[in-house]
Amino acid sequence: MSDDFILEIDNVTKEFPGVVALKDVSFNVKRGEIHGICGENGAGKSTLMKILSGVYTHDTYTGKILLNGEEIKFERGAIRQAIETGISIVYQELALNPFATVGANIFLGREPTRFGDVINWNRLYSRTREILKTYGLDIPFAETVGNLGVGKQQMVEIAKALSEDAKVLILDEPTSALNEFEVDTLHSILRTLKEKGVTCLYISHKLEEFFQITDTVTIFRDGQHVDTVPTQDTNTDKLIAMMVGREMTERFPARSVEIGESVLSVKDYRVASTEHVDKMLIENVSFDLRRGEILGIAGLMGSGRTELVTSLFGELGKKVSGTITLKGKELEIRSARDAMNNRIGLVPEDRKSLGLILEQSILKNIALPNMNKFSSFMRIDKNKELHESRKFAQSLRIKAPNLLVPVNKLSGGNQQKVVISKWLMTQPDVLILDDPTRGIDVGAKYEIYKLMNELVEQGVSIIMISSELEEVLGMSDRIMVMCAGRSTGILPVSEATQEKIMSLATNAA
Ligand SMILES: Nc1ncnc2c1ncn2[C@@H]1O[C@H](COP(=O)(O)OP(=O)(O)OP(=O)(O)O)[C@@H](O)[C@H]1O
Ligand SMILES: [Mg+2]
Repeated sequence: MSDDFILEIDNVTKEFPGVVALKDVSFNVKRGEIHGICGENGAGKSTLMKILSGVYTHDTYTGKILLNGEEIKFERGAIRQAIETGISIVYQELALNPFATVGANIFLGREPTRFGDVINWNRLYSRTREILKTYGLDIPFAETVGNLGVGKQQMVEIAKALSEDAKVLILDEPTSALNEFEVDTLHSILRTLKEKGVTCLYISHKLEEFFQITDTVTIFRDGQHVDTVPTQDTNTDKLIAMMVGREMTERFPARSVEIGESVLSVKDYRVASTEHVDKMLIENVSFDLRRGEILGIAGLMGSGRTELVTSLFGELGKKVSGTITLKGKELEIRSARDAMNNRIGLVPEDRKSLGLILEQSILKNIALPNMNKFSSFMRIDKNKELHESRKFAQSLRIKAPNLLVPVNKLSGGNQQKVVISKWLMTQPDVLILDDPTRGIDVGAKYEIYKLMNELVEQGVSIIMISSELEEVLGMSDRIMVMCAGRSTGILPVSEATQEKIMSLATNAA
């Protein structure tokens, strides 16, 4: 044992039915470092984090884990036990009570009391303020959590972990729902934590983040530990090569498409909220989408990107004025069914709640909206269903023992691939993708880009919202930038730069 290591992971193996999620994994984490963890979807990252944080008890895996040189063995109901030994995890799906205040959430179940069982609110809030101040967390301590944006909610989760005296803080894809500014804030919080001696494990699919924030990076592939290296001794290309097990020479596949006539034309489009008719969600947006074109939509979270496409798809708000013309015909889209009947498809941002039936198999999830393809005279052609679904599952490299596995058994990124497959199979004329590669590993991103290229080559038109500027620049023909429910500019990709987009996104132009 070395004193330098806070965590020693020794030969850990964990199996699920039909899947070896972790195979003989061994590596160490130095005290006080920010330790990045990368690997493709299904590589086993979250599984290891769940072992460390007591979600999986010690009898469900083999191998040893030492914390400060002592073996930890979490028993049933172990999350509490893990927290008490100093390991806390901040999940991607935040687990806060939206109706309670910041302070109440931080001390949930451990409220300071007076006279036995009366909550001492003064004490609770003064301790909340203390924690927020110590770690430089800028959140209103008495605000109701539901009124805070995702970035602040995540800070509350972090504050909660710190209030329990976390020595090791695990962040599983903490930035996937944050905008660029929130990512910066999170990173400066992590630097403060590091100064105070907290060790962080940091999972992300955005590789540049490892170079911004981590001291060390561990790479996983297929449940195995590939290497643990000082961040300064590696680079993006090397990380990718270790993650996917081969060299990847280009991030964005080339395409050759003749861009045609305008297919979808949106003019002076204004949308109000259905509940509050005077609340405008979208103001005067106009754009054209041409045949074979990829139109990127960039903007910060909350800029109205998702609202725009969801309303075009008939699922949000009320159109107040403006027109939507598809192939020369003016449309009124009142529901998703209207949109789909007009061959408009949408892969939603919140795929967990909108896109999947979690208890159902991969096969059913992909095939269900495509039943018309597989059935004739009320009979389902099971072979065709399986064959077609498998084609998509394979080309997106969905990692699962077979297609009958329920989707809730898949890793986060693999669940997203299922939703994307299902929509690609409907063969729409206009396909809207809302942040399609969020949480998806580099290898699979490339496969999705290739599929997008194939679609536009076949004459489909694509609208792609993306939070990654590199991706918008790498994949779009033109880029529309949004800010506060408005379009602040449309740039051909040849004229677009990260700086121009950011300045339009913050409306500083
Ligand atoms: N509860 C479960 N039951 C069965 N299999 C599971 C379960 N949880 C995870 N797996 C499988 O274990 C493997 C590792 O999954 P894990 O969630 O650790 O991946 P990950 O590296 O976090 O991926 P991602 O980047 O997509 O989040 C995957 O093949 C997954 O399908
Ligand atoms: Mg995961």
